[in-house]
Amino acid sequence: MTCSHYSIEDGIAVLTIDNPPVNALSQAIRQAIIDAVASTAADPKASALLITCAGKTFCAGADIREFDQPPLEPHLPDVIEAMLASPKPVCCALHGTVLGGGLEIAMAAHGRVAAPETKLGLPEVKLGLMPGARGTQLLARLVGVEKALAMACSGDPIDATEALTAGLIDILATGDPIDAAKDWLNQNDAARPTNERPIPLIDPAVIDAYLTANARKFRGLDAPPAIARAIRAAMDLPYQEAAALERALFLKLRAGPQSRALRHLFQAERATAKLPELEGVTPRPIDRVGVIGAGTMGTGIAINFLLAGIPVTLVEQNEAALGRGVATIGKTIDGNVASARTNRDAADQAGALLTASLDYAALSDADLIIEAAFETMDVKTAIFTRLGDVARPGAILATNTSYLDVDAIAAAGGRPADTVGLHFFSPANIMKLLEIVRGAETASDVLATALALAKRIGKVPVVAGNAYGFIGNRMLAVRRREAEGMITQGASPYVIDRVLEGFGMPMGPFRIGDLAGLDLGWSAETSTGSTIRERLCEAGRHGQKTNAGFYDYDERRRPSPSPVAEDIIASFARDKGIAQRAFGADEILARLLWPMVDEGAALLSEGIARSASDIDMVWLTGYGWPSWTGGPMFHAAETGYAKVVGELEALGYEPSAKLRALAAEQG
Ligand code: 3HC
Repeated sequence: MTCSHYSIEDGIAVLTIDNPPVNALSQAIRQAIIDAVASTAADPKASALLITCAGKTFCAGADIREFDQPPLEPHLPDVIEAMLASPKPVCCALHGTVLGGGLEIAMAAHGRVAAPETKLGLPEVKLGLMPGARGTQLLARLVGVEKALAMACSGDPIDATEALTAGLIDILATGDPIDAAKDWLNQNDAARPTNERPIPLIDPAVIDAYLTANARKFRGLDAPPAIARAIRAAMDLPYQEAAALERALFLKLRAGPQSRALRHLFQAERATAKLPELEGVTPRPIDRVGVIGAGTMGTGIAINFLLAGIPVTLVEQNEAALGRGVATIGKTIDGNVASARTNRDAADQAGALLTASLDYAALSDADLIIEAAFETMDVKTAIFTRLGDVARPGAILATNTSYLDVDAIAAAGGRPADTVGLHFFSPANIMKLLEIVRGAETASDVLATALALAKRIGKVPVVAGNAYGFIGNRMLAVRRREAEGMITQGASPYVIDRVLEGFGMPMGPFRIGDLAGLDLGWSAETSTGSTIRERLCEAGRHGQKTNAGFYDYDERRRPSPSPVAEDIIASFARDKGIAQRAFGADEILARLLWPMVDEGAALLSEGIARSASDIDMVWLTGYGWPSWTGGPMFHAAETGYAKVVGELEALGYEPSAKLRALAAEQG
């Protein structure tokens, strides 16, 4: 297959890269660029070389699929050096996304012309990598050390206007960027290669200050400090030495576990919505969404659709709750404007798309109605019974339940084929995960609609079967059981939290418990004091909201270990006659992670989760799992499933047949 085309147009050699879908820099493309530089140099009819890409984008960088294969020559740095050494000027005509190695190619050219909608960036850090083909060196020369640091360490692209101001591109094309690139080449026949430009020197302390300021964001990650080192070298060392250091750092990261994990997640994210059985199934159009319940979940859910330009009808039971919900939505969207996540116009448009009502009849023109009411079966079935009457034929009925039986809820509505679970995670306007729960009778086009809609509102959809807690909460329940089990046996809740946070989770199980409220589902009348949570609640310790739970909280909600809570735990253990012993950090971590992974294996064997990588995405996008370990199942696979089985046995557990099978498969 030809994936590039070389021709002479108006006295200029033109190389068009055509390697769908994103013009990744495969071996053939790398060779084609080197050949084009050589042909241009040798051809008296060509005064310069123009590089452009076919399709909707310039080039998205190195071919990620080649990273796990033996490297093939020519390597990307060879291409970059060939371009930099070209005796005739080279210009890139940019459009779409110019990322990673794609931007390195562009920067190795003498000039860059971009269409207005172009986005340019070095996203390698998101794959646990860094630019490995002179990217840090060339970017620092074009935009300065500080901007280069911010772009390469965040991985976020900038738009063409910003790129022009920063000096990353030379021309923002108003018409065809190829014509503008030809003009640029005709006028700049003596342009200097980028590596020969002087580097604007700054106080190197700025680099350390940047890392310190972003310490929280970069916690646990190997790539940002490596990027900073390479950029520092751009100031301190001659170009070739700094370039060699960059390459060495890149190769080390590429071979390391973090990049393997993050590359796995890149593919995992793209795999969640690929259900072979849905191929050719047309989603239903969704032009208006109804949301029932204006509490935290309902309002968060509504905001997603409003910001995506989809009108929402919000329904509540009484005026006060509805008013509070509408106010929350307005305030949250305004907050988005204040934090520059949304612009004012988009916020105003979103606000105008909201209709609030106390009447279910207002839902009769909705194409999708999402119930986000109180989490009990009685409440949910009552709502679905009413929806069965008011929803238009063909409307999709969804429940946001986080644990309950979707089929039972569907039955109440009398339209099981039109019913699906849409489990958003709190805060629903922020968290990326959407668990789509497929009921026994959910129609294929309903599932396809839910998947398409998730994409429209910027969520990562993961399809789950109908089982208590679906994928995420079912595994979470196992982790909570283990954490609470360990504290009855003598482990400190504070140490357990520290161990899990040290592993990279944003919060340990006891801080989460306090935050969510220990009194969820608890009432003083029915409390039997048979769990530690009940005993804490009986003592008025309901979590953060009462400034006391597993932790004590000061007036600024900062937690500190609580001797009172420790006494309650100790007396509970005494009453139950549970023997006390010491726990080491390794044992704590093994007990927090491996039973949960075993539950993940069970979800696979029951068909509740479609794949191990889907489970990883649930934990990454719904629970803040540390990305650099790739998710629970990937982490277990990297540890070795056989080792996990062995550790579970040593802890006194009987691993599931599926986990044993995974161990056997891995060999
Ligand atoms: N290599 C190989 N395949 C790639 C790829 C790449 N760099 N980038 C995207 N693809 C594939 C995707 O896997 C997907 O394949 P599929 O259809 O089989 O699932 C297909 O291209 C389309 O991608 P998306 O579904 O993500 O399409 P979008 O339009 O939503 O996004 C994109 C396009 C913005 C280019 C996005 O794919 C992206 O961010 N890609 C990664 C870019 C990146 O990280 N580049 C750096 C690579 S590392 C590097 O260059 C190292 C160098 O410094 C030495």
